[in-house]
Amino acid sequence: MSILLTGGTGYIGSHVAVAVAQLGHEIVLYDNLSNSDEAVVTQIAQIIGRPLTFIRGDIRDTQLLQLTLRAHGVAVVVHLAGLKAVGESLVSPLDYYGNNVQGTISLMQAMKAEGVRKIVFSSSATVYGQPKYLPLDEAHSLSATSPYGRSKIHIEELLRDVAVSDPSWSIACLRYFNPAGAHDTFLMGDNPKGTPNNLMPFIAQVAMGKRARLEVFGDDFETEDGTGLRDYIHIMDLAEGHAAALEFLGSSQGWHAINLGTGQPYSVLQMIRSFESVSGAAVPFEISARRPGDVAACYANANKAKSVLGWAAKRNLREICESTWRFQQTLAQRLK
Ligand code: NAD
Ligand code: UFG
Repeated sequence: MSILLTGGTGYIGSHVAVAVAQLGHEIVLYDNLSNSDEAVVTQIAQIIGRPLTFIRGDIRDTQLLQLTLRAHGVAVVVHLAGLKAVGESLVSPLDYYGNNVQGTISLMQAMKAEGVRKIVFSSSATVYGQPKYLPLDEAHSLSATSPYGRSKIHIEELLRDVAVSDPSWSIACLRYFNPAGAHDTFLMGDNPKGTPNNLMPFIAQVAMGKRARLEVFGDDFETEDGTGLRDYIHIMDLAEGHAAALEFLGSSQGWHAINLGTGQPYSVLQMIRSFESVSGAAVPFEISARRPGDVAACYANANKAKSVLGWAAKRNLREICESTWRFQQTLAQRLK
């Protein structure tokens, strides 16, 4: 089967690409490289042991998408392309709605025109907003504290409307919790352009000496040690969750929202300590003010993924920290 991955050279896309290519599928990566590097294509080819197709393009370019879907006989799309920095979305909401929502409409129009009716969408636990109860299941109400979060809700809703209007569509919205860690080969991992927004790449860069210290955003939350609790899911588990979702779409119709998380929360201080213990490197930090919009705790009820997809996360926090650290060292070697 031929699978198009929008955002395929990004952090999550590159890992999903490897996981599905290793199941024997043909993969076509489609990315405008706004937050990734074309060198990832070579790394993926190295890992899977065969060449692959990369198209440099924007998801708002409906015509190029149509040509790509047609030329490669694409059967399913995994739609990961999008802007994802919460703070930036507060400053530039139109960019977020334009890129994420308009981009998805453009993709769906191209798919409709080319008769492609199966899509996996990268949604996020951010659609639950301020949790009313924990752990979060898929029946929890949706709300958002940023234009980024609202763009995910808008996209989920528009995808549901499309599925209702035409029952031949099969749509899975995967609500990721906190993806972290690197590929088993340590050739790929989270390597954001500029200053990392997320905790794990930031910790890793401090441990490597690339940054002086980590700012811990608040130690006065209603949690055991006062810092934020999150559900960190190993990127390899997340990638395998996509492979399971692709199989599920082969035999299902309609719109489905499914959490991809572990159900096990860790605090920021626990993350720092775990990383220090695995790497042997120090992670200096200082406590600063809460980051606007951050919730105290966010973790998944992952039962639906188990029952519907037959998937559950297998890897632990130690493996997340270890792979992140080894990836950072590989990266440093490569840049020497
Ligand atoms: P990423 O930035 O590494 O990857 C996204 C990719 O999309 C990048 O390669 C970027 O160049 C590309 N892109 C952006 N706009 C595009 C456009 N208009 N046309 C073509 N390509 C475009 O981010 P990621 O962490 O791999 O995230 C992938 C998806 O998962 C995103 O939709 C993100 O919102 C979602 N998500 C991520 C997290 C997380 O913590 N990483 C959590 C929940 C959901
Ligand atoms: N944190 C710090 N210092 C930092 C970065 C983060 O203390 O420099 C803290 C945050 O306050 C939070 C935790 O580390 O308590 C995790 O923060 P991240 O930014 O790594 O992740 P978030 O949970 O805020 O958000 C992430 C993605 C969103 C996604 C969400 C889904 O960035 O895109 O997970 O749960 F929607």
